[in-house]
Amino acid sequence: MDITTSIAGIKLKHPVFNAAGPICTTKEELDAIGASAASAIVCKTMTKEPRKGNPEPRYADFGRNSINSMGLPNPGYKAYMALLPQLARHEKPIIASFIGMTLEDSLEIVAGLNEVKEIAAIEMNLSCPNLPGKPQVAYDFQRSGEVLAEVGKIIRKPWGVKLPPYFDEVHFKLIADILNGSTIQFVSVINSPGNGLVIDRDKEQVAIRPKQGFGGIGGPAIKPFGLANARKMRQLLKPKTSVVGVGGITTGGDVFDYILAGADAVQVGTAFMQEGPGVFGRLAAELEEVMTAKGYSRIADFRNKLKEW
Ligand code: DHB
Repeated sequence: MDITTSIAGIKLKHPVFNAAGPICTTKEELDAIGASAASAIVCKTMTKEPRKGNPEPRYADFGRNSINSMGLPNPGYKAYMALLPQLARHEKPIIASFIGMTLEDSLEIVAGLNEVKEIAAIEMNLSCPNLPGKPQVAYDFQRSGEVLAEVGKIIRKPWGVKLPPYFDEVHFKLIADILNGSTIQFVSVINSPGNGLVIDRDKEQVAIRPKQGFGGIGGPAIKPFGLANARKMRQLLKPKTSVVGVGGITTGGDVFDYILAGADAVQVGTAFMQEGPGVFGRLAAELEEVMTAKGYSRIADFRNKLKEW
């Protein structure tokens, strides 16, 4: 059995690693991912300045799903420039997630990350739904094109973008055209669909405090949209652009589905939050079980081979 894969030319032992967001902010948390079976280490989306994030409670589970409005709590990019090289001993690719509050901030962060040789790739988060008063960049197509062009001029690492879900045929084509005109080498789809609402019925109260209870949704509830976006990106992007599937993965079968739909690898958010770092090894082992049952011995045997009627 060979479940190796690659994204943006970077080899991975298997397709399963963490999504930027849950339990990947501090050195201890990142070391725990390093020590786990995850095939890469992604850090929390960093900003130029340190941020405390939104007021608590700002995360809640509902069943196997989650809602959050974290507000990008993180120690700032200079802290990660010092911290990420310390993860090199885990001998797996380190992926730095970032977003600037302005284009100028983004360019400053990229200029810093370019200098850190231990960073294998950079993921630009164009899709944080939780900043009060700030629209998601990825829902503004013109702005997205401008930002990708400016970042593309200076970035010197393999890079990609984390996108929110799109729900409209026209939007899939618009974003794909922009991405095909940029220098990105991978997309991670999807980030949390934003501005969902979860209610605690006993308390007759919203589940989280920020933004009147509105927040990003994770877990199995979002999987059909994650699959759809991964598939559309695989169909519309240049063949050499890698697709990383994210959204609602709780079993090896879910990993299989994303790869069948065209993903090269997958990231896990809510299930990692709920289960801890053991989730990565479990999912990789379950993927092997599904492949064995189906008679497949390599990822390429079924990647992007989803049948239509
Ligand atoms: C946050 C950022 C995200 O990109 C996301 O999908 C969910 C939460 C945040 O830190 O608020």
